[in-house]
Amino acid sequence: MNIPVKNNVYWVGKIDWDLRKFHGNEYSTHKGTTYNPYLIKEEKIALIDSVWTPFSKEFIANLAQETDLTQIDYIIANHAECDHSGALPELMKIIPDTPIYCSKNGVKSLKGHYHQDWNFNVVKTGDTLSLGEKELVFVEAPMLHWPDSMFCYLTKDNILFSNDAFGQHYASEYMFNDLVDQSELFNECIKYYANILTPFSSLVTKKIKEVLSFNLPLDIICTSHGVIWRNKPAQIIEKYMKWADNYQENQITIIYDTMWNSTRIMAENIAIGIQDNDNKINVKLLNLAKTDKNDVITEVFKSKAIMVGSPTINNGILVSVAGILEMIKGLKFKNKSGAAFGSYGWSGESVKIITKILKESGFDIKEDGLKMMWNPEPESIEKCIAYGKQFALSITH
Ligand code: FEO
Repeated sequence: MNIPVKNNVYWVGKIDWDLRKFHGNEYSTHKGTTYNPYLIKEEKIALIDSVWTPFSKEFIANLAQETDLTQIDYIIANHAECDHSGALPELMKIIPDTPIYCSKNGVKSLKGHYHQDWNFNVVKTGDTLSLGEKELVFVEAPMLHWPDSMFCYLTKDNILFSNDAFGQHYASEYMFNDLVDQSELFNECIKYYANILTPFSSLVTKKIKEVLSFNLPLDIICTSHGVIWRNKPAQIIEKYMKWADNYQENQITIIYDTMWNSTRIMAENIAIGIQDNDNKINVKLLNLAKTDKNDVITEVFKSKAIMVGSPTINNGILVSVAGILEMIKGLKFKNKSGAAFGSYGWSGESVKIITKILKESGFDIKEDGLKMMWNPEPESIEKCIAYGKQFALSITH
């Protein structure tokens, strides 16, 4: 199935309805995903990106319905990650001499992936490639989100091919932003930003400003995952500018795991304390044993502050808590507060360990952690409520 985008531009990708885990187990795709290569059939024919490796043969068969493969003049590799370049080895067996346009780091990445000496042509920001009456303009976008990442822009049709940027893992038969459920769409967009782009936020802002400074008319953004932004494409750019600017909502998120419920009782009563204040701050309570980790990260992204709880086990913390803290550390959140809590039986190191990791991850620790021995008793429950209330006050005043 190919989909006309505008004039001689076609989506020639794959809707992967079944995908539930991406990057190994690193990213959950509750709604599947799409891989979005595009074919431009002007005087010259250019293919932008391809699909993930397992769909190589299907992609090539589909592409052959749109054009004689030997007539493809140029291949543009905006990004070497195998969800966008995975079909190149099969395709290049058929058209081995076709020039591949990519960034300098793109050559390194593609060679590193496939160990082939294809006909690479390095491009940098401002370079152009004529397709006849229209041309492609290249814009390097290093670390958005890999060193090799690149955008390109098709003149006269005013289309930005943004690769991963502005994408979402969202399978839909409709493929255009104005045709899908808006709530589903933006939930997937913010999850994608929170889990993938957060550490690169300063670069996101800089790159968007740079692209806007070119004053190029923009009718469509063709991303490499999810829907094509043809209706008010600036709306997703505006969202990215907001999300990149230390985004937060009026929310505290409590994330915890528990063994025999003591830490859960602490978490729930801390939440009562947070709600019991005049600041009207929202609280969300997420049990790590039962909540998808990428959904947790999305809630962390939205929060002013997080509170992290674990009982002590083997002088340490539960592995689910250690795992989410590792993700949080890597994502380099800014301008957020944190606190730790947890129950224990005898040694009780968990609160100290969590507090240390939160500090190392850049969180502002406003309150000492709260630890409790064995099951909380009524007096301890009151302490949890008071602790939640105090914490909420500390971040809202
Ligand atoms: Fe969609 Fe960076 O790959």
